[in-house]
Amino acid sequence: MSRLTVVASGKGGVGKTTLAANLAACLAKRGKKVIAFDCDIYLKNLDIVFGVQNSHIWDIGDVFEGRCKLEDAVIKAGDSDNLFLVAGPLRATENPQGLTDFILKTAKEFLANGEYDHIILDCPSGAGHGIEEYFIRGSHVIVVATPDLTSIHDAQVTAAAAYAAGADVSLVVNRIRAKSVEDGTSPDMDEIIDSVGIKLLGLIPEDGKTSEALNAGKLITDIKRSRSKKSYANIAARVDGEFTELYRFW
Ligand SMILES: Nc1ncnc2c1ncn2[C@@H]1O[C@H](COP(=O)(O)OP(=O)(O)OP(=O)(O)O)[C@@H](O)[C@H]1O
Ligand SMILES: [Mg+2]
Repeated sequence: MSRLTVVASGKGGVGKTTLAANLAACLAKRGKKVIAFDCDIYLKNLDIVFGVQNSHIWDIGDVFEGRCKLEDAVIKAGDSDNLFLVAGPLRATENPQGLTDFILKTAKEFLANGEYDHIILDCPSGAGHGIEEYFIRGSHVIVVATPDLTSIHDAQVTAAAAYAAGADVSLVVNRIRAKSVEDGTSPDMDEIIDSVGIKLLGLIPEDGKTSEALNAGKLITDIKRSRSKKSYANIAARVDGEFTELYRFW
């Protein structure tokens, strides 16, 4: 049976797209067939994080506007034969609501036909203006937050909306600085988890190699000596239903 995982946040720039791409790649490495959709219809990034932005022609906007077929826009997201991507639109659409509805309808069709083990949606940030549409009943919504008070507040609001929509909701805290946790200048992890009020899926350290990987067109999980790659692998294992001990890096 296919599983739908939705990567969301209240606050922008917290690492959703980085998580969506690396989660997809780690699931593919586990032998699962994976397809990721870029749901950001204004600022598509997922193909860039996969490093394939120059190797595809068609995107979901082209399918929506009739310039190509859906199968033309399902592209390989790297070397793996198991890993696919439907890129977000390069050109702005005149019908944003129609395009959003189309992406969701397409993702649900993939979910129903069972061709892929995992379908991953990389959402735009925000709350209260359409983000709830992505919180599909029965899906797994991963709320991403960074360890700062504004991000934690926004994660609370997002998690509540996802929960109200009937999704299974879990939390990933990204960009944790071990030193700040140790010296108490970052909010305590237990307090973050308590205040967001949802189960913890994973903790990801601040990793200076993330932007280095991005600029080299590589995923962080393909970078040697990356501090965060084990966290992504653990999150993928949990998404795949395997119990994995929490990786403590401080
Ligand atoms: N663990 C990390 N350590 C260091 N940098 C990170 C980490 N995770 C993400 N980043 C960096 O943070 C920036 C934002 O990441 P990303 O684009 O994944 O966020 P986003 O939540 O998808 O943003 P948006 O809300 O705009 O869609 C990028 O430059 C990325 O390389
Ligand atoms: Mg993003």
